[in-house]
Amino acid sequence: MRTDAYRLRVACMERIDTYGAGYFHGRDWLRKAFLAVPREHFVPDRVWWPQRGADGLFPLLDRRVRPRRWIAAVYRPLAALVTQIADGRIRPEDGPTDCAEFTSSISCPAVVVDMLHHLDPRPGDRVLEIGTGTGYNTALLQARVGAGNLDTIEIDEGIAARARTTLGARGAVPRVITGDGEYGHAPGAPYDRLLSTAAVREVPRAWLRQVRAGGVIVTPLDTPFNCDALLRLVCDGAGHATGHLIKGIGFMKLRGQRAPRSYASLGWPPWPSYRVTVGPDEQRITAGAGEDEGPVGSISGTSWCERDACP
Ligand SMILES: C[S@@+](CC[C@H](N)C(=O)[O-])C[C@H]1O[C@@H](n2cnc3c(N)ncnc32)[C@H](O)[C@@H]1O
Repeated sequence: MRTDAYRLRVACMERIDTYGAGYFHGRDWLRKAFLAVPREHFVPDRVWWPQRGADGLFPLLDRRVRPRRWIAAVYRPLAALVTQIADGRIRPEDGPTDCAEFTSSISCPAVVVDMLHHLDPRPGDRVLEIGTGTGYNTALLQARVGAGNLDTIEIDEGIAARARTTLGARGAVPRVITGDGEYGHAPGAPYDRLLSTAAVREVPRAWLRQVRAGGVIVTPLDTPFNCDALLRLVCDGAGHATGHLIKGIGFMKLRGQRAPRSYASLGWPPWPSYRVTVGPDEQRITAGAGEDEGPVGSISGTSWCERDACP
C-alpha cells in the first residue's frame, strides 16, 4: 500500500529531478535508496522551520499537533529542518524562538541527494561520515555500501544516541561513534569515501591521512562569498588532496571551526585576484592573475539561496 508519505517522497524526487545536472542523474542506486528510506522515520516529532515567520520567530512544527503540516515540511526538497538550537540550550518545548544559533538539523533532501551524487560511493566502499545528525543521510549511504562498511561520527552525545536508536529500528546499524569528527576515525582507516555534513573553514589534515589514494572527500567549505560551497577532493593517500568547488550551499560549521578566521590565512585569493570582464554579450569572472585561468564558476541550476515556503 502506498502511504501519503510515500507519495510525498515521489513528488519530492520528481521536483529534485527538475533541478538540472547532478542529484539523481546517473545514480539509480540513489533514486532507489531515496524511495526506500522513509525520511519521516528520522525526523523528530518537533522541529523548527529554518526561516522566521512574520512574528520574527522560527516556527515550531509539531507532528502531534499538525501532522499534515509536519509531513509536508519533511518532504520539501529545499528545506532543512532544525533539530537542535544553541547546542540544546533552547528546547522544542520552549516553542518558536528568535535564536538563529542552529546546531543540528536534517539537511534538505535536494542537498543530501546532491552531496551523495558527488560522493559517488560504490558497493562495498569503506565510508566515513562526519555529522550523523538524525541518521537519515547515514541510512542512504548504508543502502549503498552496507552497514559494516560505514562509520559515522556525531559530536553531540544525545544526537548520536538518538541516531543509533533510529537506525537500529530499521535493522543493521553502522558504527555510530560519539566524538569529534575533525580527527576522523583512525581505527577504521583507510576509507574510500569521506562525507562531512558540517562545513569546514579548513579541511582537517586527519581526513587526508585517513582516505586512501584515489579516495574522495566531499564537504561544505566556508567561503568569503557569504555562503558555503560544496567541495569535492581526490586524495593521494600521502596527505594531499586536490579538487573543485561545485556549487553554493549552506551548512552549520564543525563545532571546532565555528570561530571566524581570516580568509587569507585559509588560502583564499585576495579580492583583486577575481577578474571581471563584461562585454556586450557576456560577463566572465576568472580566478588568478593570469589571462589563461578558467571561469570560477557559472550560476546555474538550484543554488543555496533558493528556499521553500513553510507549509
Ligand atoms: C547538518 S547536521 C547533520 C545532518 C545529517 N547528516 C542528517 O541527515 O540528519 C550537522 C551535524 O554535525 C554535527 N557536528 C558538528 N561538529 C561536529 C564534529 N566536530 N564532529 C562530529 N559531528 C559534528 C552536529 O552536531 C550536527 O548534528
